[in-house]
Amino acid sequence: MQQNPASFSADPGRKPLRARFLLAGILLGSALLCAQAVSSASPTLGPGYPAWLAYHPVSLEAVFASAGNVPDTIVMLGNDALEDSAARELALGWRGMLDRVPRVAVSAPSNEIAGESIVVLGTQAEVRAWRPALAGEPALGADAYRLHRAGNVVLVEGGDARGVLYGAFALLREIAQQHSLPALNLRSQPWAAVRWTNEWDNPNGTIERGYAGPSIFFADGQVRADLSRAAAYARLLASIGIDGCTINNVNADAHLLLPENLKQIARIADVFRPYGVRLSLSIDSASPMVIGGLDTFDPGNPRVADWWRDKVDEIYRQIPDFGGFVVKADSEGQPGPSRYGRSPAVAANMLAQALAPHGGIVLYRAFVYNHHLDWRDPKADRARAAYDIFHPLDGDFAPNVIVQIKYGPIDFQVREPASPLFAGLPHTNEAIELQITQEYTGQQRHLVYLAPLWKTILDTGMRASITKPGTAPPLTVSDLVSGRDLQNQHHSLGGFVGVAGVGTDRWLGSPLALANLYAFGRLAWNPSLSPAAVSDEWTRLTFGNDAQVRAMVNKLELNSWHIYESYTGPLGLGTLTDILGPHFGPNPQSAEGNGWGQWLRADHQGVGMDRTVATGTGYIGQYPAPLARQYESLQTCPENLLLFLHHVPYTYRLHSGQTLIQYIYDTHYWGAQAAAAQIPAWQSLQGKVPDAIYAEVLKRLEFQAGHAIVWRDAITKWFAKMSGIPDDQHRVGNYPHRIPATDMTLDGYTPVDVTPWETASNGKAVECTGRAECSLSLTWNKPDGWYDIAVQFFDFRNGVSQFTLQVAGRAADAWSADANLPDNRMNGNTSTRHTIDNVALHRGDTVRLIGRPDGTEPAPVDYLEITPSGQQK
Ligand code: GCU
Repeated sequence: MQQNPASFSADPGRKPLRARFLLAGILLGSALLCAQAVSSASPTLGPGYPAWLAYHPVSLEAVFASAGNVPDTIVMLGNDALEDSAARELALGWRGMLDRVPRVAVSAPSNEIAGESIVVLGTQAEVRAWRPALAGEPALGADAYRLHRAGNVVLVEGGDARGVLYGAFALLREIAQQHSLPALNLRSQPWAAVRWTNEWDNPNGTIERGYAGPSIFFADGQVRADLSRAAAYARLLASIGIDGCTINNVNADAHLLLPENLKQIARIADVFRPYGVRLSLSIDSASPMVIGGLDTFDPGNPRVADWWRDKVDEIYRQIPDFGGFVVKADSEGQPGPSRYGRSPAVAANMLAQALAPHGGIVLYRAFVYNHHLDWRDPKADRARAAYDIFHPLDGDFAPNVIVQIKYGPIDFQVREPASPLFAGLPHTNEAIELQITQEYTGQQRHLVYLAPLWKTILDTGMRASITKPGTAPPLTVSDLVSGRDLQNQHHSLGGFVGVAGVGTDRWLGSPLALANLYAFGRLAWNPSLSPAAVSDEWTRLTFGNDAQVRAMVNKLELNSWHIYESYTGPLGLGTLTDILGPHFGPNPQSAEGNGWGQWLRADHQGVGMDRTVATGTGYIGQYPAPLARQYESLQTCPENLLLFLHHVPYTYRLHSGQTLIQYIYDTHYWGAQAAAAQIPAWQSLQGKVPDAIYAEVLKRLEFQAGHAIVWRDAITKWFAKMSGIPDDQHRVGNYPHRIPATDMTLDGYTPVDVTPWETASNGKAVECTGRAECSLSLTWNKPDGWYDIAVQFFDFRNGVSQFTLQVAGRAADAWSADANLPDNRMNGNTSTRHTIDNVALHRGDTVRLIGRPDGTEPAPVDYLEITPSGQQK
């Protein structure tokens, strides 16, 4: 393991031999230290959860043709911190995947001359200085890399040091997938300059819309003392080409900008830096008043501009590579320039001016709308807001401002059309905002691989009025956010922002949800990748190259969005969730009759927002003409957006000939069945994926299958009541195997109303209050046989009620209501199913459910469903 000093050649202009030797020793030592830390954590579920950087063993022959070709020396041509990270990472990968102990050297050792394989890491300038003939042509740009094999040299060449790091991760990706390296020749450059995550962390350690435990950055109002997770996160981000991270909630706490807090935040920037991740902050635009002692935050006031300039200078003294500001203003109660009659452009440019001398940027969010809209006004439409507000400002924004646009015009729904604003800012830098954390898409308790959703947006052709050399019109959303080659100096920067919500619980809680973080980075780097290719990469990196695991995980991931959409928001209706609550369970009525503007406009005849130009809100007219024409007509409107764009009678016939209402019923039944089928699919991988991951995923899929039934029943019953049209298959409202708790013999339990009514049988459930234990029972009066018993109960965030199911006096099962679901009431957010399969029942048996409440959770129960084993639920 000792480096042999004789193997260093004495390159002119390089560090003296001894210094280089020491550096190599330190590097090697730290690589090994890290190697130990990372691989002993792999693949447990602890803090070191490596996600896709698992580095499973690969076949040396597949990658290097023969084991003798495996390079045992990694040569660093430079000594930048990012290049150090690259070398360290290669050492980790070599250890895990190749079972080798590579030497890290700082210049080409003599064994290269002896013909042994080496890996060489360097920027293009360094490579040119070392071996001019090896440097790639044409020149590599910022963050770009080239992987190349020349004789016995595997070259990782970067346009800059960050490019070297990205190249190292790319090489490791190639190896992890067992791609053959002898023919290696790969150039890659990022699609867009800005590739950031937004973390919505609060100083108290909570995360807005986070579903994976507390913040990795903050706890109790402070930056965490231990930032090892933040460092590990930067490494994950770098591995997929993410170059920036905004660490705090867009509903920002101004106090983070106080000098003492900035000092602490600088510690986070320090751990990000070796991975090329720039730290940025969300700001409260009222900060000059809140913490600055000014009596105004008017962006047109020079005192306010001075305050920001000083604050920005102070930030850069602490964090020299600070990325910039993310701004949520005049939105959902946040203060903003409208208070002073100023436009977003005035506010953005004032901040941009303060940041410009330091190279910082402003990401000004277009998520600006009035959440007190008048729902009685048929022309009112929240979807119009971003375009109505920002399009007139096109061309007014400074060159270091990017308008950050949510992918759809509403708010991260399971399906939306691309925001028309992407086409409405030809003279303005744009970024697309995607949501990795699954706020409206199941909160990581439902499996939803989001890359296919994102791709439908990124691939939407928007307009022909801007041209980009070599690209046929219409430009897609991904062209527009690339910021490249648009022949317009105000539209030359762009990017991708992913609202990530990572926490201390394995980053995203659900092991399979990590495919979304991975996909975000990969698509931000190269939006032409297919969701299937990205899923396959992620699967191989996470679980190894086993063909069965690959096939099954890919299948689960790729089908998941469609499955979720089918039972939560078909035909562009938007997620029919509890929009006034936690955005999780079903509650379609919550969308109506309030100022938030996520209206369904459901009545007794039909459903959907009429957004046509002819008779509706005119929203469709915000799109460029070809798209507007397609959307305006019922015949050509894509059916998966139908109810987003049109109000349609329940009796309307879809292209398939099916009526709209029957489609709504059928898709919910199909979706719940498909969600249930995910369980045996995953079970086929038992023993092929790490046990802890297997168990965690299984638990989540089981919850999802039960919750899909909650969704199915609630939405179909709600539409049956609204439309008055029955399901032609007689399923909706007809549950022959179900026994509502209120119909059973109650001992201590009392009936209560459930709101919304459609989330419980007949709108009622039972609760146990004022007693340590209650029970409900029935006498089995059907034939002897094997049955599956499902118990539908409510599992609150607080309290851990205990349940025991007895059959003929003997316990058949016992469980705790210990899930951390996002509510403390009986409704679709908490309704949960526990299933006991293959129970022998004899006519006359007593089936008894005993509930023991805990704290404020009254062991509430909705129904029992007793189905002959094997029969569909
Ligand atoms: C959604 C989300 C909020 C968030 C907002 C935003 O509305 O529910 O929690 O603050 O988006 O993006 O600003």
